[in-house]
Amino acid sequence: MKKISFKKTKIITALLSFISVTVLFMNSCKVSQKVAMRSGAQLWTENCQRCHNTPSPSTFSPEQWETIGLHMQSRALLTNKERDKIIEFMKQ
Ligand code: HEC
Repeated sequence: MKKISFKKTKIITALLSFISVTVLFMNSCKVSQKVAMRSGAQLWTENCQRCHNTPSPSTFSPEQWETIGLHMQSRALLTNKERDKIIEFMKQ
C-alpha cells in the first residue's frame, strides 16, 4: 500500500510540474500577444498619461505626431510596435 501511494505522489508531482511549465509557457505567449491585442487608444492611455495630460489628436498634424511619437517613445520606453499603434491612433 505504501509503495503505491509513493508512486502516486511521484506521478502527481510530475503532473503538477508539467502543468506549471505549460502554464508558464502559455503566459509568456500571452505577454507577447498583449501588445498585439491592445489598441492604440489603450496603449496611449496606459503609457502617455503617466507623465502629463496628452493633448487631443487634433492638436497636432500627422507629421507632428510622427516626431512627437519618436520623441516620446524614448521617454515612455515603448517598443516600435507600441509607438506605431499610438501614432496611428493620434493621427486619426
Ligand atoms: C516619462 C515621461 C513621459 C512619458 C511617458 C510621455 N511623455 Fe510626452 N512629454 C514629457 C515631457 C517631459 C514633455 C515636455 C518636454 C519635452 O518635449 O521633452 C512632454 C511633451 C509632450 C508633448 C508636447 C509637445 C509640444 O510641443 O507641446 C506631447 C504632444 C507629448 N509629450 C505626447 C506624448 C505621447 C503621445 C506619449 C506616449 C507615447 C508621451 N508623451 C509619453 C514626458 C513624457
